[in-house]
Amino acid sequence: MSQASHDQYRENVAGRANVADTPELVAYYHELEQFAAGALWTVANKIEPWQPKSASVPMIWRYRDLRPYVVRSADLVTPEQAGRRVIYLNNPGRRDVAAAVGWLYSGLQTMKPGELASAHAHSASALRFIMEGRGAFTIVDGHKMTLGRNDFVLTPNGTWHEHGVSAEGTPCIWQDGLDIPLVNALEAGFYVVHPELNQAVTHPVDDSTATWAATALHPQNSVWSKPYSPLFKYEWEPTYESLSRYARVTDGSPFDGVLMNYVNPMTGGPVMPTMGASMQMLRPGEKTQAHRHTGSFLYQVAKGSGHSIVNGQRLDWTERDIFCVPSWAFHEHANASQTEDACLFCFHDLPVINALGLYREQALAENGGHQPWSNSCDS
Ligand SMILES: [Fe+2]
Ligand SMILES: [Fe+2]
Repeated sequence: MSQASHDQYRENVAGRANVADTPELVAYYHELEQFAAGALWTVANKIEPWQPKSASVPMIWRYRDLRPYVVRSADLVTPEQAGRRVIYLNNPGRRDVAAAVGWLYSGLQTMKPGELASAHAHSASALRFIMEGRGAFTIVDGHKMTLGRNDFVLTPNGTWHEHGVSAEGTPCIWQDGLDIPLVNALEAGFYVVHPELNQAVTHPVDDSTATWAATALHPQNSVWSKPYSPLFKYEWEPTYESLSRYARVTDGSPFDGVLMNYVNPMTGGPVMPTMGASMQMLRPGEKTQAHRHTGSFLYQVAKGSGHSIVNGQRLDWTERDIFCVPSWAFHEHANASQTEDACLFCFHDLPVINALGLYREQALAENGGHQPWSNSCDS
């Protein structure tokens, strides 16, 4: 019979469970266990915390550390053996669900010139952010997209997709972002391999961008009823140009600098139902104030260098580094350069948080809006 305490979550606060163990109660709890049941007051304070308690740890994954291992994976296993050669980001607090933060998965994938992965579809939504190399492409439901550095690509829930690198290209590396842990938590995941292993390209190359990427212009007779963006690729150059232009006419946000969301051009809403993404610019010398909010966030440094402080941990970053901000963790960002801007790509689960009415936000009131920090999580 278990000797574990049943009153470890007691709180001496009116309105909260506060029941001390007695021999009679402990015997009662054990009897309930026989019926796969329990007394709520023994766990109520644990399962209903006063505020979100993220199991995720603030983390930074530095590209200089991981890149050699990503490159080596291409020599250690073939695409046929591994399916995908990916080094995934395993948050120490989320190892049980293979998440980089919260319910979000991420990894660094590599492919060599001339390689083509098999086509498949899954219930998880996916996105990728291109980190290095020339000649990468993705095919989504017959739409082939050529990809360059800092381009952002969608492979939404249920779409057939495959990735490759043209024979004339160079080895490519990109960041994958998926909601696999969320879909698994909801026990709703399916995975299908394409019956012919590869799909046909049924549209002109880069037709998605040519059709849907025009600023404030929609094609005549445009029809799109799917719950995700018809624009599958968001290119870096126009994104950076838009941010630069906006930066000239706005003070930006005290918490984010100049931030623009990638949107579904049909709705103005997030690119996919479960994951959204943004690119933000920290102007030369810019240092934001700290706030916290619900939702889980993974950042990749698209340009420049600087640092972020996440729940008191200082994370120094440079281009291609990836770091996370867990739900309800205070965070603030600083550009290290006095002359160059810095840009942070970010993807997150805010579409889910917002759809469920769970968004909350709070600015740090003390210390001028800045956290005391240590760099104990620095390598
Ligand atoms: Fe996939
Ligand atoms: Fe934030």
